[in-house]
Amino acid sequence: MNVQTPATLNGATSSVSNHGVAEEGMTSEKATEVAMQDTLLTPRFYTTDFDEMDAISVESIRDEWDPLIAEMESDPNKGHFKKNEDWDHVDWDGMDPELRKEFIDFLISSCTAEFSGCVLYKEMKRRGSNKDITQLFQLMARDEARHAGFINDALREAGIAVNLGFLTQQKKYTYFRPKFIYYATYLSEKIGYARYITIFRHLQAHPEHRFHPIFKWFEEWCNDEFRHGEAFALLMKSDPKLTTGRNVLWIKFFLTAVYSTMYVRDHQRPAFHKALGVDTDWYGQEVFKKTSEISKQIYPITLDIDHPRWMPNLKRMEKASRDMAAAKAKGGLGGLIGKASAGTRAAMAFVALYTIPAHKHDVPTDTRLEPAY
Ligand SMILES: [Fe+2]
Ligand SMILES: [Fe+2]
Repeated sequence: MNVQTPATLNGATSSVSNHGVAEEGMTSEKATEVAMQDTLLTPRFYTTDFDEMDAISVESIRDEWDPLIAEMESDPNKGHFKKNEDWDHVDWDGMDPELRKEFIDFLISSCTAEFSGCVLYKEMKRRGSNKDITQLFQLMARDEARHAGFINDALREAGIAVNLGFLTQQKKYTYFRPKFIYYATYLSEKIGYARYITIFRHLQAHPEHRFHPIFKWFEEWCNDEFRHGEAFALLMKSDPKLTTGRNVLWIKFFLTAVYSTMYVRDHQRPAFHKALGVDTDWYGQEVFKKTSEISKQIYPITLDIDHPRWMPNLKRMEKASRDMAAAKAKGGLGGLIGKASAGTRAAMAFVALYTIPAHKHDVPTDTRLEPAY
């Protein structure tokens, strides 16, 4: 998991809050505090009805399931998440302070999101007795633990570590029904792939912008996320009800929520994107395009991200999010009014995005895809 799902399902659509941005003098305690935050834009930990998930039968999709599991069992990234001679020295002290702050914030948020996947998958493996399901979740938990650990290694060089054991015990868990876990996690894996590969390809073309060695690891890394997404696509395929009828409205909801959250959150890191040499609007659209193309494998709709209402309402939402943060910082009656106004504007922008007519597609009989970007 790389991208967090907003907690809009908790009825919190109207309370966009600011992301916990890492401050100067960041310590491990503060980093863990940032990771502990549960706002609309920070990564959450999830729990679900594990018995219901354990009851899934993959027999109807066995011919696509077994090769995927075999590929994951072969463990193509076994030796990948280790620093080697490609890991150049990082001059943390010489880094522009604004960039350093945003980059550390990015690493903490990514580490928490990766670890969130690990915690959920591990718990499913622990509680289940269905061999197919427990095997899959164990393999995915293995990958996410490596991902989170690798980011924590990078943070440690800056003298910071997120206390993952503490998070497991103390961070709040949000309950999602299994079908919402599928929609959210499928998207989060696929958008995670799209984000990492877009940055990787961009830096391949513009190595002068690679200000930290971790980006060199993104290509193989995102292939793990791609495979996790494939697994969730197959899980959804095992129950056709999940991707038809009224559930298509839920799919649209999750697509809108995940895309708009990513847009708002990325715009909170201008120095980070500038250092990468990436225009944040371009990056967002590029990632949405790739994710939409991939998600046609299982979702019968994609969002119309070229619609005239799309970009203006993303911008409105982003502005509302900034105003919300400012109102919170202000406090008092003025702050309260500011919060109400920003919340209403964010909710209205969300509705405007959600009601853009979606593109409809036929879903292919063969679901499996290869990472081809
Ligand atoms: Fe991951
Ligand atoms: Fe993943």
